Amino acid sequence: MPDDLIFLDNHSTTPCDRRVAEAVRDVLVNDFANASSQHSMGHAAQQLVQRATEMIAMTLGVPPAEVVYTSGATESNMLAIHGVCLHPRQRRRKVVTAVTEHAAVLEPMQRLAANGFDVITVPVHPQDSPDVGHVVSDLLLAAIDDQTALVSMMWANNEIGTLQPLQMIADRCHAVGALLHCDATQAVGRLPVDLQQVDIDLLSASAHKFYGPKGVGVLIIRQSARRVRLRPLIEGGGQQHGLRGGTLNVAGIVGMGKAIEIATESMDDARRRERTLRDQLWLRLRDAIPNVSCNGQPLESSYRLEGNLNVCFPGVDGEALMLAAANVACSSGAACSSADPKPSHVLLAIGRTEAEARSSLRFGIGRMNTSDQIDQAADRIVAAYQQVRQLG
Ligand SMILES: Cc1ncc(COP(=O)(O)O)c(C=O)c1O
Repeated sequence: MPDDLIFLDNHSTTPCDRRVAEAVRDVLVNDFANASSQHSMGHAAQQLVQRATEMIAMTLGVPPAEVVYTSGATESNMLAIHGVCLHPRQRRRKVVTAVTEHAAVLEPMQRLAANGFDVITVPVHPQDSPDVGHVVSDLLLAAIDDQTALVSMMWANNEIGTLQPLQMIADRCHAVGALLHCDATQAVGRLPVDLQQVDIDLLSASAHKFYGPKGVGVLIIRQSARRVRLRPLIEGGGQQHGLRGGTLNVAGIVGMGKAIEIATESMDDARRRERTLRDQLWLRLRDAIPNVSCNGQPLESSYRLEGNLNVCFPGVDGEALMLAAANVACSSGAACSSADPKPSHVLLAIGRTEAEARSSLRFGIGRMNTSDQIDQAADRIVAAYQQVRQLG
């Protein structure tokens, strides 16, 4: 990373922790065997996988047998949604989700719609409501009935950081025999995610969002309370109980195990620091730039990820502002869809106009950021704002 770059884009990805990188390197160089091989090196690799699995399972409050490894949350979401709905014994033909979900949920849902499923996308409360970003519960509860196969609801939003009331949704799902999938990509490693506390049937996570390597994720498939039947997306080899074929990514899995261990140990401290730094950035911007406003829940809300700040800079183009503040890495709209120039569907869903959405920047503050970086980033953004205003 260039010396003077300030990375405030920790929702799109996080830097790999050096201790994690070291553990990954060790496996790549020394324990490179295929974990399915029946020789001593294969057994050693299998043991590494088992240890990482125990760590991940313990952290998430599930038995190790409920962990299935994938290439990341996009695959986990797809496996959960299509795996449940397209299983040959699935009779129900309805799925429910929220308008603010990530494309990795919305697109598999759209594919189901093309296959004849009834897909209900529930709205969220608008910016002027105290419940901004929360799914409209009356509409959600009414949409879930005995024809619903699956509800997919994210834990934490990747753009505005809103946390959804999941237990209430789980209760409704289970009362009518529907399953609940949760895309917890922005939550795992940042907040306590304990499936002993919240009754979710399928949960997706991705290592690169909590200082682990890219290209490895998990789908947790609960088996204790209800039977979850999944049709695999990737067949062949019979790995992972036939649910996801392919040679295990041992280095990635070990990296994810190490990353979740470190994230859990440092979580309380990281959350406190991220909140302080996020408030520091907001106050600096608010004091220097007229009429800036914050998208999503109030910063003091307990329904907001600590490290998330999403700011509307009225009258300037977010993309231009970002380019002018070149050494501050942040994001205009969701990073995962930034190749697509459309305004953020999440900001539109909370009632922001297209112009307001285009004037917004998302900052994701992470555990490696410092107070000095935040001051410097604020200086650069304020200078960039003045420059863009003058040019405009
Ligand atoms: C909420 C959410 N879901 C899914 C994904 C996709 O994750 P991955 O990069 O692991 O496929 C992201 C990535 O930004 C995300 O934020």
